[in-house]
Amino acid sequence: MDDDHRRRALVQAGIAITSELSLDAVLQTLVRIAAELTGARYSALGVIDRSGTSLVRFVTHGLDDATRAAIGDLPTGRGILGVLIHDARPLRLDDLTRDPRSVGFPPNHPPMHSFLGVPVMTRGIAFGNLYLAEKQPAGGFTEEDEEIVTLLAAQAAVAIENAGSVQRDALRRAVQAQEVERRRLARELHDETGQALTSILLGLTAVERAETAAEAHAAAAELRTLVVETLQSVRRLAVELRPSALDDFGLEPALRRLGQSVREAGGVDVQVETTLGGLRLAPDVETAVYRIVQEALTNVVKHADAARASIVVARKTDSVLVMIEDDGRGFDPAARGDGGLGLLGMRERVELLDGSLQVEAEPGRGTTLVVTLPVQ
Ligand SMILES: Nc1ncnc2c1ncn2[C@@H]1O[C@H](COP(=O)(O)OP(=O)(O)O)[C@@H](O)[C@H]1O
Ligand SMILES: [Mg+2]
Repeated sequence: MDDDHRRRALVQAGIAITSELSLDAVLQTLVRIAAELTGARYSALGVIDRSGTSLVRFVTHGLDDATRAAIGDLPTGRGILGVLIHDARPLRLDDLTRDPRSVGFPPNHPPMHSFLGVPVMTRGIAFGNLYLAEKQPAGGFTEEDEEIVTLLAAQAAVAIENAGSVQRDALRRAVQAQEVERRRLARELHDETGQALTSILLGLTAVERAETAAEAHAAAAELRTLVVETLQSVRRLAVELRPSALDDFGLEPALRRLGQSVREAGGVDVQVETTLGGLRLAPDVETAVYRIVQEALTNVVKHADAARASIVVARKTDSVLVMIEDDGRGFDPAARGDGGLGLLGMRERVELLDGSLQVEAEPGRGTTLVVTLPVQ
């Protein structure tokens, strides 16, 4: 391949790599292109684990399935591959089998001699290594090959970060939703509680200026009502911020309490049923379930015009199932445009925990939300 060809191929490689969104697809594309550009018969990419000592993933090109199966276990990063893991610098060998650091191949491994390994660095940390072997026609990899693969590795690093940032976007949106919620609570604190305290302050002046005991009594009685109301609204805000029942007693009692308050305030008959017994789930799972049920019940009160709602929480072997059902007017989930933040926030909470959310609703036939969250 002449220089011009290679340069063009390299640019195309960059486009191909950066247009892939899933990390696996990026890595697979990367090893294929690296082999094509250098004439290597085999190529692979090993992903280094968090401790930085061994390989957790090994993507290959040039080995058919049968050969891969015959080789058996993936390399863990000893021998020559280990050299690259511990010393993140390009390594070029004419015959890796003759290198004193080689530990040899497992049985059924195709013969490999010429070798080129280049680290893939993201943010100064070695994410993995790109390996090429058996340059065709025979002969070692050249300095030019090394340069090209180094450039490719740099492009790959960008692609790897992009694939990571897709996941980070979901997290960022979840944080934004939290921020919206905090702003609402801040406004409520300022408007409701601030107003009430101002009124109490004025009331105190009235007590001070009262000329008779009867006047003072009347002013104090009015103040008492105001203080009681304010106390209630502060308590409600505190529960909204973080229900202490969740920390103190666990998910089931907290959900029962929630159901009861919706029954009293919203006029919907809410039944809560769980198979949890006294079992506690991971705190982030409990919080997610609580918030999802809270938002779902808010929607029932706000939109459904339902007589009854039911909450079911069931513990399965490796997941927890949450169902929120109402017999209200339902809606068409597909027809809804962007909708509110409620359903979106639920979905994001669920996705952050690798769970799933299904909305089963139809106009006139009630609404059912089914959430599944994996648990250990
Ligand atoms: N239980 C329900 N019954 C009827 N309609 C619902 C129900 N839950 C959600 N919806 C519909 O879906 C829309 C989006 O809900 P949501 O995302 O929570 O936003 P918001 O409650 O702020 O409108 C609602 O406006 C409503 O039209
Ligand atoms: Mg809502």
